[in-house]
Amino acid sequence: MRGKTVYLKSFGCQMNSADSEQFLGILGRAGYKPTDRPEGADLILLNTCAIRAKAEQKVFSELGRLREYKLRDPSVKIGVAGCVAQSLGKGILSREPAVDFVLGTRSAADLPDMIRQAETGRRGVSLSATGEFDLDTARLESVRTSPYHAYVPIIYGCDNHCAYCVVPGVRGPERSRPDEGILREIRDLAQRGYRAVTLLGQNVNSYGKKDNKNMGFSELLHAVCEVSGIDRVRFVTSHPRDLSEDVVNAMGVLPPVCEALHLPVQSGSDRILAAMNRGYTRAQYFERIALLRDRIPGIALSTDIIVGFPGESDADFAQTLSLIAEVAFDSLFGFAFSPRPETPAAGLPGRVEAQISQRRLHAVLDLQREISARRNAVLVGASVEVLVEGRNPRNPQGLSGRTRTHKIVHFQGDAGLTGTLVAVRITEARPNCLIGVQVDACRPGDGFGA
Ligand code: SAH
Ligand code: SF4
Ligand code: F3S
Repeated sequence: MRGKTVYLKSFGCQMNSADSEQFLGILGRAGYKPTDRPEGADLILLNTCAIRAKAEQKVFSELGRLREYKLRDPSVKIGVAGCVAQSLGKGILSREPAVDFVLGTRSAADLPDMIRQAETGRRGVSLSATGEFDLDTARLESVRTSPYHAYVPIIYGCDNHCAYCVVPGVRGPERSRPDEGILREIRDLAQRGYRAVTLLGQNVNSYGKKDNKNMGFSELLHAVCEVSGIDRVRFVTSHPRDLSEDVVNAMGVLPPVCEALHLPVQSGSDRILAAMNRGYTRAQYFERIALLRDRIPGIALSTDIIVGFPGESDADFAQTLSLIAEVAFDSLFGFAFSPRPETPAAGLPGRVEAQISQRRLHAVLDLQREISARRNAVLVGASVEVLVEGRNPRNPQGLSGRTRTHKIVHFQGDAGLTGTLVAVRITEARPNCLIGVQVDACRPGDGFGA
């Protein structure tokens, strides 16, 4: 399999992207080089997401388009990996004749075998790996998108069973990755010039509770921050129920840990939170927010909101709006409830009409736009530390980067600054980004707040 190319497209969350980078590493060993266009690729691999019905539909419309490449050249192989693969299994083969193989979420080890099998004309499904797999080696060999920021999975699967969510079904039970492998991966990244890491898991706060018990999440944060060369540490996702005081304290005292937290609340109504099986109340969520703001001055908070969960009344929804206003998040992701197969919420009575859900979603997004604009406006005139990500995709003359609070900043500068920290004075604030001018190169810990 020498000199072949793979076109890989990811549809899902950051964990899905991290898996894709790992696939590229495994495929690299098998002689495949990545290409960013499907035309002429020997292998087309889709890494899919099943979180909402729309995400799943996107996969099938993409397959409908990609089918054409195989019709033109039957030697082209098409594989479907990720969460839709795990959830639909061989159903994908019957629904889409162009697909050669289906690879579940724990089957990365079988990828080379599946390709070999496809080359002999046999279609295949692997939903639990049968091949040898050394996770830590596979992680070290990942082909990463960015040369200075890396995703590092620390915990796989989820034991929470929120009533609406497919993730525990498609990603399996929670498994904490041994800390030695995580730290080896981060030390290796630092040696190769990486400056920022994002630790990944569906619920990073339960790290080390069920397995790998020698280290909990706050200890892991301390250990990660000891790796020299890593200036920024972030993590997603935190569950409000499991965010402990020692983690909040660690965030407050460890300089590399960014002053930002994504803490999905989903709803502001206790009744709906209980029906969702989230395991906390509105009041407990507010307590967490107060603790975070007390220990980490200037912290930026973001959240996820689901509107139109079964049984959500106007009064429940009003509670969600009031929670958003009271917390004043820096940003949020809003979703209309999507009933998913084999989740308890799919069978609940009190379905909210699509029109009402859409109206509620707009109300959430409109309110947040105002709040984000207000929160960003206070930064005008301040100098902030920006990790430069590269050219601004909308204005190739400019650069874009992120503050420690994960806000996007656009400014004029030399593309050679990519991957470095610079100080930028903010001159203009918009709801979704900041505009500024470069003041200086800056060293981490210079005290630029935002
Ligand atoms: N593990 C993370 C995120 C999981 S998925 C957590 O617990 O927060 C990301 C977001 O998708 C969720 O926070 C939720 O807001 C949304 N989501 C999940 N399932 C959904 C569904 N069935 N319909 C609509 N939104 C959903
Ligand atoms: Fe899904 Fe809940 Fe687990 Fe998040 S914590 S992945 S929303 S079940
Ligand atoms: Fe989607 Fe799977 Fe991530 S369902 S959100 S790609 S864990």
